[in-house]
Amino acid sequence: MRLVVTGRKGQVARALVERGRSAGVEVVCLARPEIDLTEPEFVARAIEATRGDVVINAAAYTAVDKAEAEPELAMQVNGEGARAVAAAAAMTGRPVVQISTDYVFDGALDRPYREDDPVGPLGVYGRTKLAGEIAVATANPRHVIARAAWVYSPFGHNFLKTMLRLGLTRDEVGVVADQWGAPTSALDLADGLIAMARRLIAEPDNASLYGVFHATGSLYTSWAGFAATIFVQAAALGRRPVAVTPISTAQYPTPAARPANSRLDSGKLRRVYGLTLPEWRGPAQDCVKRLILSPEADKQS
Ligand SMILES: NC(=O)c1ccc[n+]([C@@H]2O[C@H](COP(=O)([O-])OP(=O)(O)OC[C@H]3O[C@@H](n4cnc5c(N)ncnc54)[C@H](OP(=O)(O)O)[C@@H]3O)[C@@H](O)[C@H]2O)c1
Repeated sequence: MRLVVTGRKGQVARALVERGRSAGVEVVCLARPEIDLTEPEFVARAIEATRGDVVINAAAYTAVDKAEAEPELAMQVNGEGARAVAAAAAMTGRPVVQISTDYVFDGALDRPYREDDPVGPLGVYGRTKLAGEIAVATANPRHVIARAAWVYSPFGHNFLKTMLRLGLTRDEVGVVADQWGAPTSALDLADGLIAMARRLIAEPDNASLYGVFHATGSLYTSWAGFAATIFVQAAALGRRPVAVTPISTAQYPTPAARPANSRLDSGKLRRVYGLTLPEWRGPAQDCVKRLILSPEADKQS
């Protein structure tokens, strides 16, 4: 199997490369500077010219707060760019997997969100990702929209790496305790995406494989709970102990509002694809271990 993936340095793109290698899957990354999602015609040409069975759009404008000040750019990348990727895949008869987000929801629901629950993004990033979902679905009937949440990995920028960095100099960190979700390892997500791609190739006419799927780690926690696990694991590996002080969202204002409830129900992924991403705690501990014990391996991130 050969996957065409947009992005190269991003968390999910790098995870696909790493997990693809161990799964015997060839992963071809199309990324800047060769392809820029703000230039749809180049994107389309590059994808059409690149051999591969499934196209995965892992590139996105992901700066949630900055997006509030750059709505046009965010829309170009997450809306129009995603449309170009999906249309080019359709043009060459291939399915497209679009990575999307819990931020398409407003977080007001009192249970984990299912795929068909009403959307209502709170900010620019969520609105542009929702526009991307609609554009992809319109441009390519053979689409999978995989909504992830709280993605972390040894690569790039993410909450887990931020906590480890803060823990180098701080004895105590205040972390939001009233937002709930499922921390999701990009590596586990990549395993899931590879398994999904295999099914899409094996059963191209199986209509149930297409559509929207929630794909997050199992079980839920708050950011404060996630941070506590990170610091306990880091301390077990010799780092200084760090106390987590739970704070409220109101005490940590950000330019973009976040959903209080980011819990996604991944039951459809289990029922249709037979896939369950692992419970969040083990992979988070593994990621801390990897970053502390072999930091060189991920240095380029
Ligand atoms: N991170 C999360 O917590 C989270 C949660 C839910 C869903 N998601 C979704 O998961 C997907 C992957 O996220 P991630 O965490 O892997 O993101 P990331 O680490 O921020 O990487 C984003 C990637 O997009 C690329 N990119 C940005 N603008 C581009 C442009 N104009 N043209 C081409 N490439 C561009 C970046 O390229 P460069 O390497 O050149 O900068 C980078 O490779 C995204 O669709 C995101 O919306 C993420």
